[in-house]
Amino acid sequence: MQAFDATRLSWPMDWDAEFGRKAPLFIEIGFGNAQFLIDLAIRHPEANVIGVEISLPSIKKAEKKAQTNKLENIRVIHGDARLALWGGMPLNKLQRAYINFPDPWHKAAHHHRKLINGTFLHLLATRMAGDGILEIATDDPGYQEHITEVLESDQYFQSQGDKTFETEDLERIRTKYELKALAEGRECHYYHWERSPQAAENSFEYPEEIDMPHIMIQTPLSLDDISERYNNTHNYPGDTPVRHLQMFHTVVMDELREHRPALLVETHIAEDPMPQRIGLTIQSRPDSQVLIGLHEIGFPRPTKGIHLAAAHLARWVLSLDERNKLKHHNLAVELTG
Ligand SMILES: C[S@@+](CC[C@H](N)C(=O)[O-])C[C@H]1O[C@@H](n2cnc3c(N)ncnc32)[C@H](O)[C@@H]1O
Repeated sequence: MQAFDATRLSWPMDWDAEFGRKAPLFIEIGFGNAQFLIDLAIRHPEANVIGVEISLPSIKKAEKKAQTNKLENIRVIHGDARLALWGGMPLNKLQRAYINFPDPWHKAAHHHRKLINGTFLHLLATRMAGDGILEIATDDPGYQEHITEVLESDQYFQSQGDKTFETEDLERIRTKYELKALAEGRECHYYHWERSPQAAENSFEYPEEIDMPHIMIQTPLSLDDISERYNNTHNYPGDTPVRHLQMFHTVVMDELREHRPALLVETHIAEDPMPQRIGLTIQSRPDSQVLIGLHEIGFPRPTKGIHLAAAHLARWVLSLDERNKLKHHNLAVELTG
């Protein structure tokens, strides 16, 4: 079994094709040592089971255990659960979702890292089947209060019984964190919930991979002239915040494999669901032109956010000299204005 990288998934994945059969799809988020995940796949040979983990050692453990148990109905995704769900899961697809003992993030400064909140439940609801099941467990009193509050005020999920949670669940195999909590005398809380009849509008559009951006500008300025004018980080706030960081001199290969002097602009794009750190290039071209494009370092995925970052850079270059002229571009976003 080969682990998937959450940043490399198809948007969305065809999981039936990946497993080679049409079957109910289960997911476990944050599977840790993979004991529960493996047990799930063994107990449900009729299901295709996906585990998502941000920790690489956990991914390796799952791969090893799946191999030892000769399990064919299991796949793992390395990366952030939010990205795996948002980008990689088809709409109305997941039959079951398990979140066992999610990290509680106690410090106030880290509260925003808590996985379970209203937005996350909305995202999950869009990817779950109409009769999908959601199981959450926690031993942390603060997180338990938070989960209870978030679930009880959520419109997309409802309890399977008349209680919000149980404090005992003998049906399931115990996880590592559960055993630790019980050994240390902490009570565990188990939420057995399901999708409610409330339709969940998809406010989490799939990212799209578009063409590599290129913008040709006529300019009397040399690369040295341009780099001398770049003296600081450029910040572009907005729906998709972009930061142009350092600028470096480099050499790149053009489409005819010719080496060309260039400037490399380290760029951060805070695009949902997949922020990217990329390099934009300003290549020197014949006839007093420069070409703004995307460097292949880190194998970026050219999204709309990358086009936006290239547009910001092009606008800045155009602003440097009144003789500069836009020749052509292929951007999927506005360049002028
Ligand atoms: C407290 S441990 C619980 C592990 C396991 N479920 C158990 O009960 O023993 C939380 C796990 O969630 C993983 N995790 C935390 N945030 C995550 C995220 N955003 N996406 C995927 N996994 C995450 C961590 O790496 C860790 O393995």
